Amino acid sequence: MDLPWGDERCKKFVTNVGLITSHGPHGNNIMAAEWTHHVSYEPGLIAICLDPEHATTANIKKTKEFGVSLCAVDQNVISSVSGTNCGRDVDKIAVLKELGFVFSLGKKTKVLLIEGAALNIECKLVKTVVLGDHVMFVGEALATKLGEKEPIVLHAGKYWKLETSIAKPSPVDMEKQAKVIGKYKKK
Ligand SMILES: Cc1cc2nc3c(=O)[nH]c(=O)nc-3n(C[C@H](O)[C@H](O)[C@H](O)COP(=O)(O)O)c2cc1C
Repeated sequence: MDLPWGDERCKKFVTNVGLITSHGPHGNNIMAAEWTHHVSYEPGLIAICLDPEHATTANIKKTKEFGVSLCAVDQNVISSVSGTNCGRDVDKIAVLKELGFVFSLGKKTKVLLIEGAALNIECKLVKTVVLGDHVMFVGEALATKLGEKEPIVLHAGKYWKLETSIAKPSPVDMEKQAKVIGKYKKK
């Protein structure tokens, strides 16, 4: 079965907004990708799933590197500009610069990174996998810069700010669950 874009079931997921920077046949470019995931600690690997038709996809295929900047809570304009225009038609980097956002050049790659993002990661492409109607690029982290701001959260088609943390299970709940876990231990 399909799980199409905009479907109520898809809106239950909670994701980041990865701002994917690239360079290549379409010049310096940036797009928004909620399908941005940290998938390995050693080495640090980041997976992004992109539509094969995106300008970013062509750029990454050619240059085999990309940047991931986790969009910060005060950067929803970057997500909007980069996620609703194609780099084939619009120089999104120039637009964002004119709107006041600042980019810096990567230290280990030629990708641009966004100042003030929650986290910047420069990645070297290590694997490409076609998954259904998207292409998954897995990048190995070469350099990172930790920002001070919190990441923006995407859920139900809206941007959110994390504020209220839910308490972990109480000591009473922990004791209860430990008893039941003990009962079902496999030996
Ligand atoms: C918040 C947000 C999240 C998005 N997530 C993804 C995603 O995970 N994968 C994807 O292929 N497109 C995603 N998009 C759509 C692309 O960012 C959009 O189509 C963009 O224009 C592609 O740019 P490009 O053609 O310059 O590469 C998202 C858009 C927004 C606004």
